Amino acid sequence: MTKKNDLKSEYFGKDFVWGVSSSASQTEGAWNEDGRGASVWDHFATKRKKILYNHTPEIACDFYHRYPEDISIIKSLGIPNFRFSLSWSRILPDGTGEINKKGIDYYNRIFDECQKRNIIPWITLYHWDLPQTLQLKGGWKNRDIIYWFEEYVSVCSKAFKDSVRNWMILNEPSVYTGAGYFFGIHAPGEKGSKKFLSAVHHSVLCQAIGANTIRREIKGAHVGTTFSCSYITPSSNKLKDIAAANRVDAILNRLFIEPSLGLGYPLKDIPLLHKIEQYFHQGDEKLMKVEFDFIGLQCYTREVVAYNYFAPYIKAKLIPANRRKVYHTVMDWEVYPEAIYQMIKKFSSYHGVKKIIITENGAAFNDKLEKNKVADVERIHFFSNYIAQVYRAKKEGYKVHGYFIWSLTDNFEWAEGYYPRFGLVYIDFKTQKRIIKDSGYWVKNFLMDVN
Ligand code: FCB
Repeated sequence: MTKKNDLKSEYFGKDFVWGVSSSASQTEGAWNEDGRGASVWDHFATKRKKILYNHTPEIACDFYHRYPEDISIIKSLGIPNFRFSLSWSRILPDGTGEINKKGIDYYNRIFDECQKRNIIPWITLYHWDLPQTLQLKGGWKNRDIIYWFEEYVSVCSKAFKDSVRNWMILNEPSVYTGAGYFFGIHAPGEKGSKKFLSAVHHSVLCQAIGANTIRREIKGAHVGTTFSCSYITPSSNKLKDIAAANRVDAILNRLFIEPSLGLGYPLKDIPLLHKIEQYFHQGDEKLMKVEFDFIGLQCYTREVVAYNYFAPYIKAKLIPANRRKVYHTVMDWEVYPEAIYQMIKKFSSYHGVKKIIITENGAAFNDKLEKNKVADVERIHFFSNYIAQVYRAKKEGYKVHGYFIWSLTDNFEWAEGYYPRFGLVYIDFKTQKRIIKDSGYWVKNFLMDVN
């Protein structure tokens, strides 16, 4: 564990955006209340052995009812920006067609609460919770999703245009397409390269169509999307390992940003990707391209990659942190602060990227609640060291303009259920009691200078 440092938030300047992130499926609960339709995650959680301890997102953090308390905690910690997502099936229970007024009212109540407390909302339109009715029609594999998504985004932008300026179209498309349509370990639990490639191409189209829809409806909107990224290093200096690391980098870090910048898919690096061309319609190259005001980077770790003959398609494997015997979190993600600096540097080098905001960074450790306190020293060190690397990137002139912590509260961590705790705020899931961890107070103290 590295030591914390004496960095101050004021070094980043007045315009640097500080915030905290969450998402609908992971926090809201109330999965079938007030007219909400089921999402792929509600459905996936009913399948056996898909989610650790068979946990489900049915109640989650009960944010649906407890949002005033959680927003007041954000205020009490002095965090000026709050990123959260809208649940598509709460707004359009069947994915398209009839609008659920109670869903719209609910988000309006949250926006009012934010406004009352002077907290700026940053909205993610799609954070992995596709309406189950659309999944039954093929979900992201079905090209019609470009129309379904456009309708959803248009409904949201009309409903919330007076309350929201900052929009993110997709959350980490490489993760929901990879884990959800290739490996089958996330909802909707599908597997195989055909499913994956069609889901990828339709997501890239939606990424652009969503942004154009928001721009059309909302003057002065600040529009971005978010990409997951990991610093990729080869396991040795052997040419085979270096080439394997390049292929993993192309899949994990370049697959979604490059087509949006007009650079196309990284086909040269992964010849098998050519198969994606079967999903192209005339004019798609142009349709994929979009000018974002900012891109969100979500960086947690680095991956070490070795050549592996048996791994299908990319002939590469990631060597897990515990096998490498390096310091890691309960997700088995290596704690490697420099990863965030390297990713800011890498994405800054794209000419078309105007501005980078770190829209997620954080860690799950074994938090212990003792005497109503959580002394999460490791998380404090984690933030202090990662933020120091963000500062290093900023000082060197790279395009980073903001940093959001994942996450406000402990929450439903997808296939890992409630086991990994990422929050600045501990939740006792039996009582829903909230307890601010020491890292929450550390953030409050750190942000004192910007408030
Ligand atoms: C990211 C997801 C987010 C959360 C964190 C830990 O990949 O966007 O929802 O699960 O990881």
